Amino acid sequence: MMDELKGLLRYAFQTGNELTFAVSAPGSVGMETCFVNLVSPGDKVVVCINGVFGQRMAENVRRCGGTPVIVEDRWGDPVDPAKVEEAFKAHPDAVILAFVHAETSTGALSDAASLAAIARRFGALTIMDCVTSLGGVPVLLDEWGIDAAYSGSQKCLSCTPGLSPVSFSVAAVERIKARKVPCPSWFQDLGLVLGYWSGAKRTYHHTAPVNPLYGLHESLVMLAEEGLENAWQRHRDNHLRLRSGLEALGLSFVVRENARLPQLNTVWVPDGVDEAAVRTRLLQEFGIEIGAGLGALAGRVWRIGLMGHSSRQANITLCLAALESLLHG
Ligand SMILES: Cc1ncc(COP(=O)(O)O)c(C=O)c1O
Repeated sequence: MMDELKGLLRYAFQTGNELTFAVSAPGSVGMETCFVNLVSPGDKVVVCINGVFGQRMAENVRRCGGTPVIVEDRWGDPVDPAKVEEAFKAHPDAVILAFVHAETSTGALSDAASLAAIARRFGALTIMDCVTSLGGVPVLLDEWGIDAAYSGSQKCLSCTPGLSPVSFSVAAVERIKARKVPCPSWFQDLGLVLGYWSGAKRTYHHTAPVNPLYGLHESLVMLAEEGLENAWQRHRDNHLRLRSGLEALGLSFVVRENARLPQLNTVWVPDGVDEAAVRTRLLQEFGIEIGAGLGALAGRVWRIGLMGHSSRQANITLCLAALESLLHG
């Protein structure tokens, strides 16, 4: 079953990476697994921040003893490749580029292919957060040349939370093997975890969360049965349905059209509307939970998820009717 799971994850990530498995913990630990294995004290890492999760990446670099070189973009904008290029020109000794493909705090999708190409040109590896993108929009690790990626089981894979699919390229594995300082985390040390996840003999490392792993296996089977391209198309079609309904209600999107995540729709709260009261009534009266703004966008936006199994027409119709009755009823 573990081998099947690895194969299904390779399909979801569109990669041939041997080192592809699910970390026994949520997405934040997948993130840490990438940083504690790839960053050593003194390493410079270019970190793109255009929302909450980029900030968390920078914090990971600091805690690994590295120095983050911050590239900032406005919350709601995708990462600007020109700024990343400038950062590498100013810091040619940076060894890694880290960015969030799909910023869940804002709904912005960044151009992973262009960002990874810049890192490659400067001889750096790439760590990509695809917690919210995997299964909802194209995630093409091999085509884009991503060296380390982590995701989450609970977003577009629609599984229970608590597992983090990860994948590492050959170059990333070489860097991990060449570490001079041991990985500071025993639990996340890939050299140790792999004794359990690969090889002819499976050696006990920690007690695996077997039941959630079966759940993830099933959700990946469902994704494969639907077909990745069909899943991406479904997310896109449903986003367009929701978009036209939201715009008909007079709501406008935070993210510009060509960088919008179909699975995470962020709209400005209209002036004079008590945003928390609307979310509470949506939940209590209609059984719909939408997200509040985070960080810089707290209190100013609503984030409407259409991820995985929840991306379906019936949910959109109900959500739009409920919002209409609360805003204009
Ligand atoms: C983009 C992104 N990265 C990382 C995380 C952290 O994942 P988890 O909450 O599963 O630890 C999230 C969670 O929402 C996320 O959206």
